[in-house]
Amino acid sequence: MNDWLDVQDKVIVVTGGASGIGAAICKELKENGAIVISADRSYKKQTAHKIPCDITNADDVQHMVDQVIQTYDKIDGLVNNAGMSMPRLLVDSTKPYSHYEMDLDFVQKIFTLNVFGTFLCAQAAARIMIKQESGVIINISSECGKEGSNAQSAYSATKGAVESFTRSWAKELGSYGIRVVAVAPGPMEATALWSEEYKRSMSYCRNVTMSDVRRSYQTSTLLHREGRLEEVANTVAFLLSDRASYITGTTINVSGGKSRG
Ligand SMILES: NC(=O)c1ccc[n+]([C@@H]2O[C@H](COP(=O)([O-])OP(=O)(O)OC[C@H]3O[C@@H](n4cnc5c(N)ncnc54)[C@H](O)[C@@H]3O)[C@@H](O)[C@H]2O)c1
Repeated sequence: MNDWLDVQDKVIVVTGGASGIGAAICKELKENGAIVISADRSYKKQTAHKIPCDITNADDVQHMVDQVIQTYDKIDGLVNNAGMSMPRLLVDSTKPYSHYEMDLDFVQKIFTLNVFGTFLCAQAAARIMIKQESGVIINISSECGKEGSNAQSAYSATKGAVESFTRSWAKELGSYGIRVVAVAPGPMEATALWSEEYKRSMSYCRNVTMSDVRRSYQTSTLLHREGRLEEVANTVAFLLSDRASYITGTTINVSGGKSRG
């Protein structure tokens, strides 16, 4: 086992750890000896390392944190990873009011998960971390959170909010020895987020073929390829470790050099 990171026996909660980037983060942390608890709404039953939890529900989140404290008596790290995306236009100029325009329900749904869910988990974990006078909160953003993205304005806005939370929470919590850092992945290899519906929607909204959607994502990075999930997981594991003890209140891009959505 590689112990350079020295995260052995650290208790880390990862939201949305059942698939995609979250699952890769859980795997990387486990391989480095951390105690990892995944909180995901897709779980049917609770185990020592998997807690069914809808992060948009305050009672669920509190129950999840209570369970972790009851079992492990501390939370060293929280990774706010659960999130969603779906391309939508502000106005569909070729077909106004079409399915591909944002409506209030859509905007509320994406903000509820990406922003309000992140807030609920951070608040519940920070209450514990303040008592401990230690802890790290990692918020998963996206490179489009900084620059916006064609057909992803609501998603980009949620990630802009997540990055702003990160900077303010780092200011509020720093004196308790708590670090808060955002990680902004660029286009990633296939995850559930890249569903057929996602690709169809992006193809329509950007007026490109389905295969061009993927190609344009790849060539938008300086490295001309999608990111691997473990490339995000490696960065998150490093940031959770004491090796990153002077990094807080900022966003680390893991995006192959891409900074524009
Ligand atoms: N995949 C990408 O290309 C990409 C790029 C940049 C940023 N991101 C961000 O990375 C994060 C993970 O993305 P992904 O592609 O791995 O997604 P994914 O869809 O593969 O996985 C999301 C996980 O979150 C869980 N989840 C959804 N709603 C939940 C809820 N209310 N409560 C608890 N769990 C819930 C799902 O069950 C799933 O396991 C997201 O925040 C996303 O915005 C992804």
